[in-house]
Amino acid sequence: MAHPLLVTGAGGVVGQSLVECFGPGRVIGLVRPAGNRPDGAAELIAGDVTRPRLGLDVPAYAALAGRIGGVLHSAALTSFTRAAADIHDVNATGTAHALRLAEDAGVPFHLISTIYVRRRDGSHEDGRARPYRESKRAAEDTVRAARVPWSILRMSLVIGDSATGSTPRFQGVYAAMKSLITGGAPVVPVAAGSYVDFLPRDHVARSVRALVDSGALGEHWITAGERALTIEEFVERCLGYARRQGRTVPRPRLVDSEMVHRLIIPAFGDSIGADLRKRLELFTDILGPLATDRTLPRLPDDLPGLGAPPDLGACLDTSLEFFGTRARLAATGTPA
Ligand SMILES: NC(=O)c1ccc[n+]([C@@H]2O[C@H](COP(=O)([O-])OP(=O)(O)OC[C@H]3O[C@@H](n4cnc5c(N)ncnc54)[C@H](OP(=O)(O)O)[C@@H]3O)[C@@H](O)[C@H]2O)c1
Repeated sequence: MAHPLLVTGAGGVVGQSLVECFGPGRVIGLVRPAGNRPDGAAELIAGDVTRPRLGLDVPAYAALAGRIGGVLHSAALTSFTRAAADIHDVNATGTAHALRLAEDAGVPFHLISTIYVRRRDGSHEDGRARPYRESKRAAEDTVRAARVPWSILRMSLVIGDSATGSTPRFQGVYAAMKSLITGGAPVVPVAAGSYVDFLPRDHVARSVRALVDSGALGEHWITAGERALTIEEFVERCLGYARRQGRTVPRPRLVDSEMVHRLIIPAFGDSIGADLRKRLELFTDILGPLATDRTLPRLPDDLPGLGAPPDLGACLDTSLEFFGTRARLAATGTPA
């Protein structure tokens, strides 16, 4: 049997999806000592990517290097609110340490990266996404200089499972959904007609498995491509969920994020309530850099073992239902 892959960040949204997709028997998961653990029976090792040898002692590191067939590096700090130095430490330095393991083992290295590395033409670089974007770019640069075969897999936004909507964590995009559902977003800082590229986590994991199993190397985009929803469709799905819960929510205005950052926030300054300002900044940070007037490159549907993604509007509805119930946004719950 082939040697297992080491999946770092195995307890995260993407890591857990990878463990489920490859099957626990094909994977050894690296998790933080007190961190999230993936469901399923994958063998787990406790470690810390910010430390040399991933924090393992010399014999444990050598034993791990001797029995893995590749490294799938998904450990990262994905929160935009963390200190830039911490984000760099985990995302850039952590990638160098994980790559070093692959080099010591002489096995391929696969970096889970993000479409955030792609900056929208002419967009400002002041938002809270900046340290994250820069750390992931630095990680990509490290990987391009690898002494083993490598791939860089850039993912779009990841939402819940296509069939159930389940996700181990509600990340930033869910805060945007909540603002739309609860009417907390009178203005959405995304230009009309922009695409918002997201995929359900099971399809993302299948894409990674198809690429790794086919031996594909180099740089790849795991995105919805021309199937991406427009911001209007995204907003409409969120408002549709709100309506089904008996909420009457006014339709927000779509305004280019540049205008929000350069004109609206500076011009209205403190007269914008702290809450609204926070929501505008959140939207601008999360969706602003992703929204694009062009669709992104994507994987071919005929990649062996992959196939086309499921209907993305239906996937968003399923994720909204799962989120709404858990966050008590549903009609029967107490609105948050
Ligand atoms: N989710 C998305 O929408 C999305 C989109 C595009 C790209 N990506 C990429 O996908 C990758 C995984 O992101 P995710 O969404 O799965 O994030 P996540 O849910 O926050 O998971 C990240 C994982 O990394 C672990 N981790 C953090 N610091 C670590 C350290 N020092 N040592 C070892 N493990 C550490 C975390 O452990 P704990 O469980 O202990 O916190 C967590 O399990 C990232 O590279 C991200 O850039 C994600």
